Amino acid sequence: MAEKLIIFDTTLRDGEQSPGASMTRDEKLRIARLLEKLRVDVIEAGFAASSNGDFEAVRMIASAVRDSTVCSLARANDRDITRAAEALAPAQSARIHTFIATSALHMEKKLRMTPEQVLEQSRLSVRFARNLVGDVEFSPEDGYRSDPDFLCRVLEAVIEEGATTLNIPDTVGYGVPELYGEFIRNLRERVPNSDKAIWSTHCHNDLGMAVANSLAGVRIGGARQVECTINGLGERAGNASLEEIVMAVKTRRDYFGLDVGIDTSQIVPASRLVSNITGFAVQPNKAIVGANAFAHASGIHQDGVLKARDTYEIMRAEDVGWSANRIVLGKLSGRNAFRQRLDELGIALDGETALNEAFARFKDLADRKSEIFDEDLHALAGGDGIEVGDELYRFISLSQNSETGERPHARVVFAQSGQEQKAESQGNGPVDATVKAIESVVNSGAELLLFSVNSISSGTTESQGEVTMRLTRAGRIVNGVGADPDIVVASAKAYLNALNKLQSRNERVNPQP
Ligand code: KIV
Ligand code: ZN
Repeated sequence: MAEKLIIFDTTLRDGEQSPGASMTRDEKLRIARLLEKLRVDVIEAGFAASSNGDFEAVRMIASAVRDSTVCSLARANDRDITRAAEALAPAQSARIHTFIATSALHMEKKLRMTPEQVLEQSRLSVRFARNLVGDVEFSPEDGYRSDPDFLCRVLEAVIEEGATTLNIPDTVGYGVPELYGEFIRNLRERVPNSDKAIWSTHCHNDLGMAVANSLAGVRIGGARQVECTINGLGERAGNASLEEIVMAVKTRRDYFGLDVGIDTSQIVPASRLVSNITGFAVQPNKAIVGANAFAHASGIHQDGVLKARDTYEIMRAEDVGWSANRIVLGKLSGRNAFRQRLDELGIALDGETALNEAFARFKDLADRKSEIFDEDLHALAGGDGIEVGDELYRFISLSQNSETGERPHARVVFAQSGQEQKAESQGNGPVDATVKAIESVVNSGAELLLFSVNSISSGTTESQGEVTMRLTRAGRIVNGVGADPDIVVASAKAYLNALNKLQSRNERVNPQP
């Protein structure tokens, strides 16, 4: 039997630290459920001590997930570690991931601690965490830019204290594959008790090498855990992307000689869900999950693939879930089929009333669009708010006029705290008029940072338009998403959805430590 490569997903923690990617508790839970279905080994659910919202999110995920280990990040201090342990208490299998910076730059400028103090703090924190849970991961932050002699002393000490996983972050994405791989190999060779822990990679993508560096950490360095995120989401330029790591190790098993436990058929659904929730579109030429990843445009390639698929394909689209989520529901689908599909997609509904309301919205969409795809259901769940919990604003209706040579005009009806509001305005275009109309009532003081329109599901004009609006106010950034066959309506929904998030208590605030 080949050795196993542990897949540690940090979409809900490092991924959420991408500006604009913050998620509500419910959204995090939906992603966690799908990660469990994807069979990731460890789900880093958040950073429990960073806010009450994140504490609750970690706790909810720890209660709901059974088949993956649930992990919380914690700085190397007793308070953070205690909060992490409390949030993880309901978990079937729990891990505390504690970290402290070890590079000279971070210790001196950021922590204002001496190396000896950092060494002592690392030791005490791991000892403290090990008294609370049996599974403790330690990360020397900015590890790759740390002095290897000092790092060896820290790592030896934390293994003595019972750390079960040692993660070596390339926090700023400075590594190149060979050197990062050798860095880990060198540490493993020099730390006397290195065989008592599993070694792990955590690579950022600032130079576009996060995946290559992680794989070198595995192949050259002997790491047996990779930290990664769906769609490569993460701080700044992101983290190593889970789908690329998994498919590289599987497709080139001849080279890596390792097994991964991932159910790859869930990769595309997971990518879509994360993209829908965060509003971060996946670029068409993104490996594995981009719309073009398995599309052949040139005549020579098409001809080759038709004659023998492996002439131009090294993986099968269906193995990563491309065909798994094609059309499933339509106008004639019943309530049971609808409920079952939502279940399969990890979309939770709270009681029969919520199901009935969602089903009514589904029927309304099915009247206007003949085929309903999984992406439509995700959009229905997210943008149109099946999980309406904290909603202050709700879209009701819209009419707009635009004619060549005339200034467009929009009339919007929406509910504000249950009260119907009617607003109208002119604008440069129908979307501008719609947003101005809403703002004439709401006066949110928010600034629009991004407005994007994508077609979801089939690439025909019949498909739904999905609009993302990114708003900022008082240092907070949120993404609102709305979907509708009419893109002006989708824009109104996205704008109201973003306003809801701006005021929601459910939203994380600044997750960065
Ligand atoms: O990039 C980093 O160093 C981190 C640590 C907290 C593991 O995210
Ligand atoms: Zn990171």
